[in-house]
Amino acid sequence: MTAHLRRRPLISGNWKMNFDHFEAIHASRDLGLRLTSADVVPVDVTVHPPFTDIRSVQTVIEAEGVPVALGAQNCAVEDSGAYTGEVSPMMLAKLHVEYVIIGHSERRRYFAETDELVAAKLHAVIRNGMTPICCVGETEAEREVGLTKDRLADQVEGAIGGLAPEAVAEMVVAYEPIWAIGTGQAATPEDAQEAGGWIREVVGRVAGAEAATAVRIQYGGSVRAENTAELLVCPDIDGLLVGGASLDAVAFVAIIRAAADAAR
Ligand code: PGA
Repeated sequence: MTAHLRRRPLISGNWKMNFDHFEAIHASRDLGLRLTSADVVPVDVTVHPPFTDIRSVQTVIEAEGVPVALGAQNCAVEDSGAYTGEVSPMMLAKLHVEYVIIGHSERRRYFAETDELVAAKLHAVIRNGMTPICCVGETEAEREVGLTKDRLADQVEGAIGGLAPEAVAEMVVAYEPIWAIGTGQAATPEDAQEAGGWIREVVGRVAGAEAATAVRIQYGGSVRAENTAELLVCPDIDGLLVGGASLDAVAFVAIIRAAADAAR
């Protein structure tokens, strides 16, 4: 068994702002009909619906035994209080949300989320007993001028600098090059591995060798069943964060099966 297979692969579906709660019920049922417990023996699977769907999806997953964990796409820093329009991490945990995506590039870009805010949200997720999936990634312009490693190091250091090594060990970092998201142009396995290896090195520098060995690093950006296996054989890629393809149960299950085959 190679080193990376000691980390259990995590396949996550980010639904972004798609599906009303009726459509979400249908989508999670569809997933449940196609996905068997045997499919997910070697992998963990999460789905991240919009907030308005979470209670509905929770009910389907729990009542029908769909073998996926519930996730969210964002959360507030505070647990409660006068924060109009925010969604509390404490209330997400109460709905049995287990994973929360933090610092997705769409939130950094359209909602001005800074590394400081990302760090505060990571604390909030961990404080409430959930697992953060912290997204980092460079723009095309940064890659072109050779700034990829600097950008990733800044984002990783900014995110995990104040966390206990034990918390870092349990979390997930998603490498999502912005130029690969929703473009149909995924990173090559070589580029994904280079970034994954670098992220692990930075984690090691900040949180120590044990945390670096344990932390799970996902790749995200135009993942499909066809490129799943080649990405997951990279020693420093331990999972996939899937956007568009996770909206189609057939496509998402094909990715999960390909990931499970690669992990067996
Ligand atoms: P994509 O999105 O799979 O549609 O490229 C990935 C993401 O933003 O997480």
